[in-house]
Amino acid sequence: MPFAFQHDYTLSGLNTFGLPCVAQRYGEILSASQLTGLVRRGALADAPPLILGGGSNLLLPETLAATVLHIRIPGHALVGSDDDHHFVRAGAGENWHDFVRWTLEMGWPGLENLSLIPGTVGAAPVQNIGAYGLEIKDRFFALEAVDLRNGTIVTLDAADCRFAYRDSLFKHEGAGRFVITAVTFRLPKRWTPLTRYGELARELGARGLIDPSPLQVSDAVCAIRRRKLPDPARLGNAGSFFKNPVVSPAQFEMLRARFPEMPAYLQDDGRHKLAAGWLIEQAGWRGRSLGPVGMYEGQALVMVNQGGATRRDVEALADSVQRSVRERFDVTLEMEPVRP
Ligand code: EPU
Repeated sequence: MPFAFQHDYTLSGLNTFGLPCVAQRYGEILSASQLTGLVRRGALADAPPLILGGGSNLLLPETLAATVLHIRIPGHALVGSDDDHHFVRAGAGENWHDFVRWTLEMGWPGLENLSLIPGTVGAAPVQNIGAYGLEIKDRFFALEAVDLRNGTIVTLDAADCRFAYRDSLFKHEGAGRFVITAVTFRLPKRWTPLTRYGELARELGARGLIDPSPLQVSDAVCAIRRRKLPDPARLGNAGSFFKNPVVSPAQFEMLRARFPEMPAYLQDDGRHKLAAGWLIEQAGWRGRSLGPVGMYEGQALVMVNQGGATRRDVEALADSVQRSVRERFDVTLEMEPVRP
């Protein structure tokens, strides 16, 4: 069947924040070659398209004068192995959590700490998803992407992707240029559980698991996430709304002197990562609303849509929270979700 775009397409059900949005043009991409074909025919020449995966890290405007490409490329397979690793490849449209659980059931552990993160495989490298002491960059081998400049398929390795905390090439020069179509992971054959994140260690301890299996780690991570993070099907949200700010040694010393109980995590470069959730709670925003949006009672870093919110409401609360945190701590919070 020839590819056809749909016009004035509603994305309200396709973003986990539940924001209303009507897009000018919308199409579902089921293969990389379908996308290269579109580029070569000039169908995307007017402006860079918005790439939609699971819609779990997006703040959509009410009208989007753009073409939306919903990446639904399926498939997952073991594509190789060496003495130390299994190499597993998945289509960009695969659901992230289902893919993680499949690797675990097949006996290829390594992604269990990233269980239950909403979204798709193809979106995962964009913000270098991370949780409970692991980031996707730690298990990444390479990805395939369509270059919208010329319709070719390129392979990018970890260095090309320039991964950093909640960041990558695809949020900078690569934005609007590369559309990720598949990702290959490198999973360790000699697996040991990664339990240095305090909350995960406590959860495993509470379950009496001293030497947990990969599936037991995954189950513990799922339990923590279900307890703390609101289910988007019930209460619209995009996970952590701000990044955890990273501050210089001098700023850290100043803050620590004033707020000795402030959580902070030393980074490899000597700076400290602060807990945005703690800063927001201390600034008085935990469980507090502004119009139809609020900072979640169970985790102040998560903004929730209590019903009927638009992006304007989200931005108004984000501004107020940023202002309060700046006034109290002289720290600037940076939003995590993408704003097309
Ligand atoms: N905290 C508070 N009050 C709050 C929330 C948190 O005081 O309302 C304190 C906690 O007590 C803890 C610290 O802040 O000492 C850290 O909290 P938590 O363990 O919940 O993690 P986080 O820093 O808020 C980050 C990621 C999450 C990830 C968890 C677990 C970011 C922006 N967020 O949250 O990722 O699941 O760690 O690793 O880095 C996401 O990106 O959408 C996301 C959910």
